[in-house]
Amino acid sequence: MISSVTAFAPATVANLGPGFDVIGLAIDGIGDTVTVSRSTTPGVHLTAIHGDGGLLPLDPTLNTAAIAASETIKAAGAALGITLKLHKGLALCSGLGSSAASAVAAAYATNLLLGSPLRKHDLIGPCMEAEAVVAGRHADNVAPALLGGLVLIRSTNPLDIVRLPIPEGLTVVVVRPEMALPTKKARAALPTHIELSTMVAATAQIAGLVSACYSGDLSLLSRCLADPVVTPARIGLIPGGQNALDAALDAGALGASISGAGPSLFALCRSVRSAKATAQAMTSAFLDAGLPATSHISPANCPGVRRLRQAPKAS
Ligand code: HSE
Repeated sequence: MISSVTAFAPATVANLGPGFDVIGLAIDGIGDTVTVSRSTTPGVHLTAIHGDGGLLPLDPTLNTAAIAASETIKAAGAALGITLKLHKGLALCSGLGSSAASAVAAAYATNLLLGSPLRKHDLIGPCMEAEAVVAGRHADNVAPALLGGLVLIRSTNPLDIVRLPIPEGLTVVVVRPEMALPTKKARAALPTHIELSTMVAATAQIAGLVSACYSGDLSLLSRCLADPVVTPARIGLIPGGQNALDAALDAGALGASISGAGPSLFALCRSVRSAKATAQAMTSAFLDAGLPATSHISPANCPGVRRLRQAPKAS
């Protein structure tokens, strides 16, 4: 019987331009790690948070890792006492799916500890329950963090998830300015009504984006990354954000927008070379606005959650 499992779940770029709450992409190299161990004490206990999560609650009813672990045990119909140790590689409120990564790593590790009674797909529900507590009920971070790659959430109730193909060589830049933007605040900035003409434009963008993924037509993809609804409503919450998006296009990116609820931005590029130039241009634009920013480059086609053989060192 396994006594302890460690899992890593990657950062994700939700929305990907026009796909508000329905499209998300896994990226590689950054994410959260959770170690789940059997305990003789019943219930789910979060005993430590290391890394970039200093302000997170240890209260298991408020932390997405603990909630997702508990929902996974419930979904499996099991009874198991566990302790969780969470290592945050992702900053809170950064727009990179930090709460989702914690939930996904915890759910996946818990399921392994139980002997894998559930499929990865079955973990989307438990992880979404966890997201709902802190960031609203949406699966565009948890689904790609679990499944990897580019994912369309056709419906959350009932769950209907579609994996989308990713054009060859497509590269993602994420740029994170040094500020926090809570998802709840970014969602509160959204319009409650939109004009029919705006809805038509938004629908056309999503349809074009999905079509471009299947055909590999990067010129079409480039035309479909602009979002007429959510990005204009939120970009003012990010100092220097609009200039950074403009700088990405000037540097040759296919398109750029807000990553999830922000404040991180993302750009899609044809190559790593283009991604490097884009990252430089975007971080400079933030710096001009007085906001230091860091960038990360990843292939667009990345795996989701995975088991790690070793837990990270506490820091
Ligand atoms: N789709 C969500 C939003 C993602 O944009 O609010 C938040 O992580």
